[in-house]
Amino acid sequence: MFILLMIQKYFPQFLLTIACCTGLVFLFRKFRPSDEQKQRKNAQFKEKLKMNKGREENLTDEIDDKDMQDMEEDFAPSLPENLAHIPFKFTKNSHSEMIKRSGEFYELMNKRRSVRFFSKDPVPEEVIRNIIKTAGTSPSGAHTEPWTFVVIKDPQMKQQVREVIEEEEYFNYNKRMSKQWVADLKPLKTTWEKKYLTEAPYLILVFKQLYSFNEDGTRKMHYYNEISVAIATGMLITAIHNAGLSTVTTSPLQCGIRLRSILERPPQERLVLLFPVGFPADDCTVPDLERKPLKDICVEI
Ligand SMILES: Cc1cc2nc3c(=O)[nH]c(=O)nc-3n(C[C@H](O)[C@H](O)[C@H](O)COP(=O)(O)O)c2cc1C
Repeated sequence: MFILLMIQKYFPQFLLTIACCTGLVFLFRKFRPSDEQKQRKNAQFKEKLKMNKGREENLTDEIDDKDMQDMEEDFAPSLPENLAHIPFKFTKNSHSEMIKRSGEFYELMNKRRSVRFFSKDPVPEEVIRNIIKTAGTSPSGAHTEPWTFVVIKDPQMKQQVREVIEEEEYFNYNKRMSKQWVADLKPLKTTWEKKYLTEAPYLILVFKQLYSFNEDGTRKMHYYNEISVAIATGMLITAIHNAGLSTVTTSPLQCGIRLRSILERPPQERLVLLFPVGFPADDCTVPDLERKPLKDICVEI
């Protein structure tokens, strides 16, 4: 009785509510995908997954943070407590000499560019060894030197590395990377295809070491391993350029475990970066980029 009275009293509002609900149901039905459409979409997705079998779940590392904590008891200091301290040999330059040297070094480094097209011209192995020795002079957390530089010149191994990276990069560009990321890379014209991995005479793969072993089998903890390796690779790039060679810094996303396995590196090592090294191809081009001026990168207080 009460309901009927309410309907009578608010009849126009009642009619409007019914009309709106009917309209919404109609719209929902109209735009809801049909069963056939749903089936088609599912089939397409399944097909994609099949194509990328094994890559849908990211491979995981054998050692994670929890394992590192569990290993804590095995860690021992790597440097002797009574380590000798010796006089530091140092040559002091005049101010004018320092200005000249620093200016010339800047001019040299300002010519460095990331090169993605290489010639097959040979490079003496000794040059590569000197470059890596230079990177090895880098500072490191508690002098742990947490790096391994794997140099590949064997063409078959380079081909194997290229296959792994191109496979993963295809998936990265088409699925793992965000649309924004892919759009940001477009002006650089980088794609999943990495010809330079077989064209450059050398590949240098830089691994960080989470820990290493002392002679007595105890573990040496590698503090700041990531940042130490980053500094060492900066020195590596500088040494490559100083030697008159070119490279490009590359970060092969999701390739670390597969490459570590091919290269037979131990589980405590993680791939950080890969550098193809050689001479630029005769027709090599680079993106027309500008660098920020000093005033935009430096604050003097
Ligand atoms: C951490 C890092 C990762 C990079 N990864 C890639 C990469 O995977 N592929 C690539 O072609 N370039 C890569 N680059 C190179 C940059 O695109 C390049 O340094 C930048 O465009 C500036 O150009 P320039 O090196 O010629 O000055 C990377 C650079 C850095 C520092």
